[in-house]
Amino acid sequence: MLLSEVRKKYLDFYAKRRHTIVPSSSLVPENDPTTLFTGSGMQPMLPYLLGETHPAGKRIADSQKCFRSGDIEEVGDNRHTTFFEMLGNWSLGDYWKKEQLSWIFEFLTKELGIKSEKLWVSCFEGDQKFGLPKDDESAEIWKSIGVPAERICFYNTKKNWWSRAGIPENMPVGEPGGPDSEIFYDFGMERGLHEKSEWKKEACHPNCDCGRFMEIGNSVFMEYRKTESGFEKLPQRNVDFGGGLERITAAANDNPDVFNLDVFENVVANLELHTSNKYVDQHNKKSYRIALDHIRAAVFLMSDGVMPSNTDQGYFVRRLLRRAILHLDKLQIEGNHLHNPLSSIIDVYKLHYPNLLSNKDIVEQALNQEEQQFRKTLTSGLREFEKISNSSQEVSGHDSFNLYSSHGLPIDMVIDLAREKGIRVDIEGFNKNFEAHKELSRAGSEKKFKGGLSDTGEVSVKYHTATHLLHQALRDVLGNEVRQKGSNITPERLRFDFAFSRKLTDEEKKKVESIVNEKIKAHLPVQKVVLPFVEAEKTGALHFFGEKYGDQVNVYYVGDSIDTAYSKEFCGGPHVENTSVIGNFKIAKEEAVSAGVRRIKAVITA
Ligand code: ALA
Repeated sequence: MLLSEVRKKYLDFYAKRRHTIVPSSSLVPENDPTTLFTGSGMQPMLPYLLGETHPAGKRIADSQKCFRSGDIEEVGDNRHTTFFEMLGNWSLGDYWKKEQLSWIFEFLTKELGIKSEKLWVSCFEGDQKFGLPKDDESAEIWKSIGVPAERICFYNTKKNWWSRAGIPENMPVGEPGGPDSEIFYDFGMERGLHEKSEWKKEACHPNCDCGRFMEIGNSVFMEYRKTESGFEKLPQRNVDFGGGLERITAAANDNPDVFNLDVFENVVANLELHTSNKYVDQHNKKSYRIALDHIRAAVFLMSDGVMPSNTDQGYFVRRLLRRAILHLDKLQIEGNHLHNPLSSIIDVYKLHYPNLLSNKDIVEQALNQEEQQFRKTLTSGLREFEKISNSSQEVSGHDSFNLYSSHGLPIDMVIDLAREKGIRVDIEGFNKNFEAHKELSRAGSEKKFKGGLSDTGEVSVKYHTATHLLHQALRDVLGNEVRQKGSNITPERLRFDFAFSRKLTDEEKKKVESIVNEKIKAHLPVQKVVLPFVEAEKTGALHFFGEKYGDQVNVYYVGDSIDTAYSKEFCGGPHVENTSVIGNFKIAKEEAVSAGVRRIKAVITA
């Protein structure tokens, strides 16, 4: 079965059960300083799980693009990817466990034809410390649907509790979460990740990592919110289901290798043209998988506006591309080949993600530029390695780390090179340096997760409205070429990325500033209307994340009426009620992010 068929069947199935299908949000969360990337389908749903009314109603389904930077090092086996699509369905205070579990079971067994005896499930065993009860209700429902007791397993909060922060102990006050029930596909004893001899039948269970079982879906029953002393019930009971589209398709095909999916077929064929090292050979698989995953992830990220750089999100794109190049080299796919798979990737995804096609040229250019640039550093890295290895019998931890951080040579490559030379690598020493570095990069990745909620603090909300004013003021001064590419708000500043071809002059910056301040002083009301997409478009409201909206959208406008408003944008909010509370607006910095994209950082003061 093709990935796109499974996606379509899923969305059709839930549409028939009165779910509104919403398009995927961007991989870069808007106005959410707690996280750099969208890492689960639930992330963009947060305000609605907490009780805000979703314009599309109480039943929603989608296929959400996700990127998990923390998983970069995991890629290489048959199932881990950094980029994936998460099929999701939500009940926002509507249906509950019985509908959820029986529908998803029906979808997997009837629509996809997965044999029910291949499915195992897990339920929450409860937690005394937090007074959280065992989820017998879900287990009974599973039994009534036809899952026998021996394939229903109970686990603790580490496995069967879901919140963005993980286990209850790690959740900040206010964060929602709940028990969950996972579904696993059994690939059978001999089909796992490892050799048959490596796992023991008696000890094996769905959450064993031997590779026999693969988790393909998770129904979270999100009905709690963390308090100072424990948990309270949310005002509504929500269901948050997430299932990896790749993994579900792999299960439907009864093939545990997600890199055998149709979406990779032409990419592999394309790369294989340049080498005699083929994917079918076991010893080539790891490098192919890393290259396939990383190139695809980078293409999706770049199409969502994240260009390779040394900071923030761009740092991860650079890292993905560099790792991909090194592994292409291992496969002897040398020279500028990074851009070759691009067309195959776009071909299989363009119908569902049209922005891949519209950004093709920019992405292709960036791939070429990145590869050329990295090959220069790589040469210097290899030279540095030669120097070290000629003067010592060991590559020290410090040297290994330097080769990695300054020249982009990952440790596995340093080890390979050292092995060829017959010298040692102080891996432990490297690890110490590396762990310190990982802490840093984790702080910059999705684990940056701090206070929990997408920031709706008073100051951030002011910055949010100021961002809308800035956007319009830039268009007034520079013309309609200005298009929003990204936005990030913290209580200290706003950051706004936009398409524009050159540096702004001092005069232009002053003009923009004074327009924004003028609108602030004009005491303009900020109001919201919910409109059908087509009507909303007719108002002329700005919306540059074209694919991410559903049938009903929120339009925020600044002014007395939508017709006369100074600024109108599709937006989830929240915003201040009146511009007068924002304070004084000042541009702190204007700089280039990449070719054709500028960045403004601005602050507001009382
Ligand atoms: N939000 C849940 C997950 O990511 C469904 O697993």
